[in-house]
Parts: sequence; C-alpha cells; structure tokens
Amino acid sequence: MKYKKIGDILILDNNYSDDDFKELSKKHNVKTIMKINHIQGTKREPVYKILYGSETETINKENGCLFKLDLAKVMWSKGNNNERLRIAKLVEDGETVIDMFAGIGYFSIPIGVHANAKVVNSIEINPNSYHFLCENIKLNKLTNINPILGDCMVETPNFKADRIVMGYVKTTHHYLKVAIDSLNNGGIIHYHETVPEKLMNTRPIERIKAQAGDRDVELLKINKIKKYSPGVWHVVIDACID
Ligand SMILES: C[S@@+](CC[C@H](N)C(=O)[O-])C[C@H]1O[C@@H](n2cnc3c(N)ncnc32)[C@H](O)[C@@H]1O
Repeated sequence: MKYKKIGDILILDNNYSDDDFKELSKKHNVKTIMKINHIQGTKREPVYKILYGSETETINKENGCLFKLDLAKVMWSKGNNNERLRIAKLVEDGETVIDMFAGIGYFSIPIGVHANAKVVNSIEINPNSYHFLCENIKLNKLTNINPILGDCMVETPNFKADRIVMGYVKTTHHYLKVAIDSLNNGGIIHYHETVPEKLMNTRPIERIKAQAGDRDVELLKINKIKKYSPGVWHVVIDACID
C-alpha cells in the first residue's frame, strides 16, 4: 500500500480500504484524503473519490518551485519530479522554448525558476490546467512565461524555438512534425513516449527521424522516467535536429 502527499493533501492508492483514512488523518497533518482511480482522456483529468475533508486545491512545493493545483481537476505525477528539474537545468541563457502540453507548468515553472530563458511559450488545451498555469506564473513571480490556451497542433506553428518540450505520452508522435517544423536548426526536442522495453532504443528515435525529413537528427539521450505498465516504459528522448 502506498500513499503520496501533494501539498497538504494525501492521495492513497487503491490497495487501501476507504476506511483507512480514519487512522491516516490522525497520523498526517493533511486537510483532505483522496483516492485517484485513474487519469482520463486527452486533458488528463482525474477520476477520484474524497475520503476525508472537502478541499481539493493545494500548493505543492517541489525543486524550489510552487505549484498551485486542484487535484480534482488536474493531474500531478510525482514520478516525473527528477525530469522536471533535469530539463530546467539543460536550458541555456537566452533560449526560446516551447512547452507543448504545458499543463499547470510542470516544465515551464522550473525553467522559469532555475534557468534564464528569453521566453517560454507554454501551450495547454485544458482550461483548468491553463488557469493554474497562469496562477503558478504569478505565484513564482515569473515574467518570461507566455501562457497560451489552445491546441499544440494549431498554436505551435506560431513560434520558433531553440528547445521544445513534448511532455505528454498519449499520442505525442502525432505532434512531432509540427514540433520539428518550429525547431530552429541545432535545436533540441525532449520527446516523451510510452514504449515497450524491447523497442525503447529504436521506435522513438525512428519516429523522430521519420518526421525530420532531410534534417540531421542526433540522439543525445534516452532517459527512462518510470515504468508505465508491465514491460512498458515512459521515456524521454533528447534529440538535436539540425
Ligand atoms: C498533464 S501533462 C503531462 C504530465 C507532465 N509531463 C508532468 O511532468 O507531470 C499533459 C497535458 O497536455 C495537455 N494536452 C493534451 N493534448 C493537448 C493538445 N493537443 N494541445 C495542448 N495541450 C494538450 C493536457 O490537457 C495535459 O494538461
């Protein structure tokens, strides 16, 4: 049985019985205890049950960043913690970044806090996530994040970037062409995919090369984030495209 604390809310896994909240509410100093059954749909919305308390909005501190979010409306993946900081540390001074699938600012906020980018164009389709993205820009006192409510497929071509983050794992490869077309020569993409272990070293990079046409693609890193399901990994491919 596992639980995780996000801000002052406790999330129990489904191995807990619903009655376990009584003991846990005494032990942990939290205002709400919830179970999140799964995350559904393109907008990555939680299907949840409240076991204790009623408030689902909280502020989570991670890697020196503040993330306000409502756990009844938007997702939070604790397992992506290291990746959120890793990307921020790769961003060089003066870079223009596009954060496709920006959510509440999972990547944009750490980039704003830890790097010195010229601008981060953060595109998010879910109005609830976009609301918290705007809140988090204010909360962290950032001035170089440009939040955009819309579809990456439509909005990405409005920008050119030195670095593009593609932090979504459902059908991310459908967005590779639009991302690569907006990437400056010598720019870097961070492409997320859920991939069977035996295809990890081939399928994602082949998909990138297929959409890059005549441009040169250099594989920089395959970063294993976490096990997604039995035999399937959530990976991030860092690739430089000239
Ligand atoms: C929740 S994030 C993934 C989690 C994140 N990588 C992390 O570190 O926790 C994915 C976001 O992409 C958004 N999204 C999905 N399709 C989109 C699209 N076509 N355009 C813009 N945003 C999209 C979803 O609404 C969701 O907020």
